[in-house]
Amino acid sequence: MNAPLRVTAAVAREHGQSLLVEELDLDEVRPNEVRVRIVSAGVCNTDAHVIAGMMPTPLPAVLGHEGAGIVEAVGSGVRSVSVGDHVVLAAAYCGVCRRCRAGEMAYCENLFAEDFGGRRRDGSTSLSKDGQQVSSHFFGQSSFATYANVVEESVVRVDPDVPLEHLGPLGCGINTGAGTVLNELRPPAGSSLVVFGTGAVGAAAIMAAVVAGCTTIIAVDIVDSRLELARELGATHTINSQGADIVAELKAITAGDGVNYAIDTTARPELLRAAADALAVRGTLVLVGAAPSGREVPFEIGDSLIKGWTFKTVVQGSSVPQVFIPHLIDLWRAGRFPFEKLIGEYSLDQINTAFEDSRAGTTVKPVILMDAA
Ligand SMILES: NC(=O)c1ccc[n+]([C@@H]2O[C@H](COP(=O)([O-])OP(=O)(O)OC[C@H]3O[C@@H](n4cnc5c(N)ncnc54)[C@H](O)[C@@H]3O)[C@@H](O)[C@H]2O)c1
Ligand SMILES: [Zn+2]
Ligand SMILES: [Zn+2]
Repeated sequence: MNAPLRVTAAVAREHGQSLLVEELDLDEVRPNEVRVRIVSAGVCNTDAHVIAGMMPTPLPAVLGHEGAGIVEAVGSGVRSVSVGDHVVLAAAYCGVCRRCRAGEMAYCENLFAEDFGGRRRDGSTSLSKDGQQVSSHFFGQSSFATYANVVEESVVRVDPDVPLEHLGPLGCGINTGAGTVLNELRPPAGSSLVVFGTGAVGAAAIMAAVVAGCTTIIAVDIVDSRLELARELGATHTINSQGADIVAELKAITAGDGVNYAIDTTARPELLRAAADALAVRGTLVLVGAAPSGREVPFEIGDSLIKGWTFKTVVQGSSVPQVFIPHLIDLWRAGRFPFEKLIGEYSLDQINTAFEDSRAGTTVKPVILMDAA
């Protein structure tokens, strides 16, 4: 299983166009790589940003960065997994920069090259068609394919008793939302927390806020079905932001104090401004949503100075994937992190419908099942 292989993959050939399901050639596993038979791969909004041209990954490319599957072969230098292991695939990191050495691989100094470069470090791609390079190693994996050669840093070994069909989304979106709460913010029990945009990332943040013991959890979105799901997951209040005075509503919910923690997944300037204005004294606002380069937010810095508030950006939930993803699985087993409620399943041939349903708001977390007909 270490030899070159014909695989089926969804290929992004042009910005703004549908993905094309094609047969590609996958080369041999390199010493630092793991060949994974992909069982499931979640669709994250970051894939959509690349298709739209917002990120620099060269096309044609195989995207997909929330894979889960079974190890079929390991390179000679791989130490953390063996053939037959079940794995979740998370974001790649270089492993040797100062941030990686400090256990902050979400802030790897080589993050862009590792995750968006579409190439190995030597410039090669693992994928090709008729001898032409196709970008691979997206987030170390390119998992919208039946098989992938994955860098060892992206591989997280998980218990084989958990259904791989569910696990793909733990690699990015769910990890990001939950980690932002449990790794970065660490709200004391009894805190208030608001999430702007209750897609996959936001919904995971809401479940994590419940785990952390937040007692006021507010979901803000424009899609009512997503707000209903947020309530099912533990939100105590919901706000449909269309036409709403969000700051006034958040102040009313918190009896005038404002909220302790705000997480924004929308990257919309007017919502970030509202979130900052609605913060309590010593509150923290976190941006996780991705925006095009150059977008600015005009925060009020006159009256808000005396609030002593914090604004920060958070990547990949500040998590060490090999540590945090198994924790999320334990929480899921304990019935405290029911992330499968977000999932809608699609075959690889239906991948463009999966993206459309995510955009339309009808499916929170589309998951591609590689074996589905
Ligand atoms: N920082 C990171 O490490 C990281 C990791 C994963 C994803 N992301 C980014 O996070 C963002 C969210 O990803 P996702 O997969 O959850 O996307 P998503 O589309 O599922 O969620 C976004 C949500 O925002 C809502 N929304 C849009 N406009 C709104 C408005 N005006 N008011 C209120 N809600 C509004 C949408 O209805 C949707 O529910 C994306 O930009 C993605 O690229 C960042
Ligand atoms: Zn690094
Ligand atoms: Zn993602």
